[in-house]
Parts: sequence; structure tokens; C-alpha cells
Amino acid sequence: MMKFISLVAIVVYFATVQWSDSASISPPSHGNGAQGGSRAVVHLGTVEGKNFYAVNGYRNWTEAKEYCQWLGMELATIETSAQLYFLQTVYNRNTFRGNHWIDARDSFEERQFTWDRINAPVSTLSSLPILSSHMPYQTCVAYYSDLPAKIFLDPCETTVYTLCDSNNTVTIQNI
Ligand SMILES: *[C@@H]1O[C@H](CO)[C@@H](O)[C@H](O)[C@H]1NC(C)=O
Ligand SMILES: *[C@@H]1O[C@H](CO)[C@@H](O)[C@H](O)[C@H]1NC(C)=O
Repeated sequence: MMKFISLVAIVVYFATVQWSDSASISPPSHGNGAQGGSRAVVHLGTVEGKNFYAVNGYRNWTEAKEYCQWLGMELATIETSAQLYFLQTVYNRNTFRGNHWIDARDSFEERQFTWDRINAPVSTLSSLPILSSHMPYQTCVAYYSDLPAKIFLDPCETTVYTLCDSNNTVTIQNI
């Protein structure tokens, strides 16, 4: 009986190790994960109870949204000027630079941008310069974190970094 129990314990142990290995090595999307030695998911901090996370690796908008959800987060919304200001204070040349998908896209009407999850019009971002790919629609919105911060309207299949948010602090085991 004793032998049986310890065998079960060992099997469970190995199953757990293998599960966490495969979970970290092959997430259900197609980004590159960690790059250039920088960490894959970085907690940028908390503002108004919202945690922002910068996610390394190149993903299109749909993949970015799915990847945030896989992490237990959401593709980020920037709903107040305090949140927008906060993101500018946490720019970091190693861990939070360049273009990041956020949860806004057009609703198949030219230049009418909507927060996807909360289905509300995007109004917070108009204080930033907006750079457009000049596609009339089918564009998604990216936050460009290098200062001065900008907004890019890019085709949704473009692959850039990802900005996720969460009401909770999510523990991330970086690879
Ligand atoms: C994103 O990439 C996936 C996998 O390559 C593809 O199936 C999907 O159509 C792409 N979505 C967009 C909006 O480009
Ligand atoms: C996070 O909290 C806000 C404010 O309480 C709420 O409106 C929002 O639905 C929450 N988001 C999620 C993903 O639970």
C-alpha cells in the first residue's frame, strides 16, 4: 500500500512538471514569446485598480486578444486620462517600448473606433498624435509607448507587441 501511494505521488509530480513545461513553452498562439533576453510578460504597475502588463512577442490583433485571455487577463483598454498618463510614466527602453495592441478597433466604419470588450467609443486617446496606415477601415489600434507616445491605426493582421490589463495582480512565471 505504501509503495502504491508513493508511486502515485511521483506520477502526479511528473505530470505537473510536464504540464507546466508545455504550458510555458507552447501557449495557444503564435507569438515568439521572449525575445532578445527580455522578459515575456512585464507587470508595468497599477493605476485606478487596473494592472497593466506589457507582453513581448509579435502577434496580430486577434492573437494578442487571445493571448491576454490565456494569461488570465484582457487585451488592455485605456479608459481614463490617468491611465493614459500612467502608461507614459512607465515607458521603459528594455521592457516597454514600441507598438502594442490594445482592445480597440474600428467597427467597419471609417475612423469610428470602439473598445471591443466594453463596447464603448474610444475617446481617451485623442490627446495623442495618431499615425494611420491610411486604410479606411479594418484597422486596429496600437499604443506606441516610446515617448512622445502615439497611437497607430494599423491593419489588424499586423504583428506587434501586446498590452494586457487585469483587475487582479496575475502571477507570471517568466520563461
Ligand atoms: C491572426 O493570425 C492567425 C494565425 O496565423 C490567423 O488565423 C488570423 O486570421 C489572423 N488574424 C488577423 C486579423 O490577421
Ligand atoms: C474590472 O473592474 C471594473 C471596475 O470595477 C469593471 O467595470 C470591469 O468589468 C472589471 N473587469 C473585468 C474583466 O472583470
